[in-house]
Amino acid sequence: MSKKIIILNGSPRVKGNTSALVNEFTRGAEEVGCEVKIFQLDKMNIHGCKGCFGGGKNIESPCVQKDDMDKIYPVYREADIVVLATPLYYWNFSGQLRTTFDRLFAVAECDPNYRNPKKESVLLMAAEGYGFDDALQYYQNLMKHLGWTELGHVLAGGVMKVGDIKDHKELNQAYELGKKVDGNSL
Ligand SMILES: Cc1cc2nc3c(=O)[nH]c(=O)nc-3n(C[C@H](O)[C@H](O)[C@H](O)COP(=O)(O)O)c2cc1C
Repeated sequence: MSKKIIILNGSPRVKGNTSALVNEFTRGAEEVGCEVKIFQLDKMNIHGCKGCFGGGKNIESPCVQKDDMDKIYPVYREADIVVLATPLYYWNFSGQLRTTFDRLFAVAECDPNYRNPKKESVLLMAAEGYGFDDALQYYQNLMKHLGWTELGHVLAGGVMKVGDIKDHKELNQAYELGKKVDGNSL
């Protein structure tokens, strides 16, 4: 079965190292027939969650704030796999990704028990150093809390400037992971 994949790219650099991982993952996933939709979060108008607990009334546009999240919600709802792609910023996800993820709470609000829709997930990260432990731990805990299934992660360290990731082995890892996520070879 070909899966639907939503990629939330939290890097502001469209040609940066995270985006290179995203591109290779996408190439692999599309080769095996997956449908991939990428969102460049930094280029979108996405505001922080207001914490109003007033959402969930309209499944098509579940948040009270009307901004570019309305482009993401329908794709997220249909997606089998959510790919979180981000540079390591202060040992964590980028603000762009965190902000977007908070806003997915409005989808959980559509359920009377605030249950999040069940998804599979992938993490793609790039960093100057190799200090991924905290972010990886956070990601794995988050997936446990949401009840989502991790399909894998690719962490590319030692990359700072745009283009640094060229020839790094993690590009191929992202491509191979993309080819596997349809489930046939997992
Ligand atoms: C605000 C900011 C915070 C950063 N924090 C870290 C960090 O905690 N650890 C690290 O290794 N690199 C850190 N970096 C470096 C980036 O992770 C690195 O440049 C990465 O390759 C950027 O990915 P991109 O090309 O997708 O933008 C930081 C960069 C910025 C701009």
